[in-house]
Amino acid sequence: MKHDAGVRVVDHPLVAHKLSLLRHRDTRHGEFRRLAHEITLLCAYEATADLSTEAVSVPTPLATAECRRLSGPEPAVVGILRAGLVMVDAVLELVPDAAVGHLGMYRDPGTHQPVDYYDKLPDRIAERAVLVVDPMLATGGSAVRALTRLAEAGATDVRLLCIVGCPEGVAAVQQAHPEVPIHLAALDSHLDENRYIVPGLGDAGDRIFGTQ
Ligand code: PRP
Ligand code: URA
Repeated sequence: MKHDAGVRVVDHPLVAHKLSLLRHRDTRHGEFRRLAHEITLLCAYEATADLSTEAVSVPTPLATAECRRLSGPEPAVVGILRAGLVMVDAVLELVPDAAVGHLGMYRDPGTHQPVDYYDKLPDRIAERAVLVVDPMLATGGSAVRALTRLAEAGATDVRLLCIVGCPEGVAAVQQAHPEVPIHLAALDSHLDENRYIVPGLGDAGDRIFGTQ
């Protein structure tokens, strides 16, 4: 894991290998979904490393074990639709009891600004640890909008997990929400004139769902 002022880029051979397959233009949607799911599993392990725990005594068949378990209400995973759905499923494998929120938005092709179309967050969001997931952090507009919505709802313990980010998106999130740690599987070079990440992997939603 590489650390840089709130940005953590996973440095792991399995993540690197799976990213090389995910990025390939010939990877079709079934394989793309599976790879995005697996990368999320590996990265979410680190992105949840700061969840708070409490002591608990557990009776084993032999004795009492002093253990630790997650404290407080169940964490929440909040997916930015559509592409974030594939990552929500992966996080739920690790945290099956997590509450799930959805924030629907799409990037306007002309302005590149997010346009909201759905908003449903779990109850008691202010008391929960929240993991926001979206495969792409491009201009950062969608992530900033989601993090602002969560802040308005009272969430204070929030982290962001994306698969591919770029310096422009990282800067936008850090400026608007400097308290939110950003976890990435890869930090790419820059945005092109259409605000796509270069080299990136193309349009994540279309590649996940087989749409154009
Ligand atoms: C993609 C991606 C992010 C957003 C990133 O979603 O999943 O949500 O773009 O771009 P930004 O950082 O410049 O905001 P898109 O808007 O294409 O919607 P989709 O998930 O429905 O395909
Ligand atoms: N959204 C995507 O899906 N990919 C990009 O590179 C930028 C925004």
